[in-house]
Amino acid sequence: MTFQVARLCARYGRLQVCHDIGLGADSGEFLVVLGPNGAGKSSLLGAIAGVVSASGSVLLDGEALDRCAADRRAFRGIALVPEGRRNLFMPLTVDENLRLGLRLLPKAERAGMRERLLGMFPILRHRPHQPAGMLSGGEQQMLAIAVALARRPSVLLLDEPTQGLAPVILGELIETIRELRHMGLSLVLAEQNHRFAAQLADRFVVLQSGEIVDQGAGHELQDPQRVAAAMIG
Ligand SMILES: Nc1ncnc2c1ncn2[C@@H]1O[C@H](COP(=O)(O)OP(=O)(O)O)[C@@H](O)[C@H]1O
Ligand SMILES: [Mg+2]
Repeated sequence: MTFQVARLCARYGRLQVCHDIGLGADSGEFLVVLGPNGAGKSSLLGAIAGVVSASGSVLLDGEALDRCAADRRAFRGIALVPEGRRNLFMPLTVDENLRLGLRLLPKAERAGMRERLLGMFPILRHRPHQPAGMLSGGEQQMLAIAVALARRPSVLLLDEPTQGLAPVILGELIETIRELRHMGLSLVLAEQNHRFAAQLADRFVVLQSGEIVDQGAGHELQDPQRVAAAMIG
């Protein structure tokens, strides 16, 4: 397994909100973390990224990142797209946001990565001078993913990308996320929208009250009864 998390506990002060979480993903593999509001999905992703305090282990290509701060984890290849696209600077333009992402890449690689992202995300090419805050929710989500990809992460933590988006653009978002497989990264996608998640998952885990209560292969999410059983617990 390229990316592995073991016995991960996340906490806010004395309040522990994730308990003994174990999960992993190979490169090119999509793992979905399903769970209702308040289950601990964002806390789990934050703990992996190093922005929520935690104990337990986070391994990337066999290297332990437990003791690394968030910036070090980002440098080593873990990228978080937080809830509500909070990795974007809304007053800055599309192009300026992209530049901030690319800044973390060695100079020699920036132009190549920039071209690659322009090809994947039409918004970057068509509206480079528009402030991020003036984009639609769907466009912002695309930009948020592009900015996170700019530094060539090995693991992308994507927190509820469907939040606040019109159903008509979800198809396009699915296609964009599917393309990430060609980049060979591991995706950990937190979602409440199981229909959306089912179209992307290679494997899934269900989180409830901070614990994994179920898991399975992605295709099992096509079965409505299976989903209902998993989500209700
Ligand atoms: N900054 C915080 N301080 C204290 N408790 C928090 C904080 N953020 C989230 N929580 C609590 O942690 C639990 C899990 O929340 P969260 O990870 O946001 O769940 P989800 O993303 O699945 O909706 C909830 O009970 C929530 O109230
Ligand atoms: Mg959340």
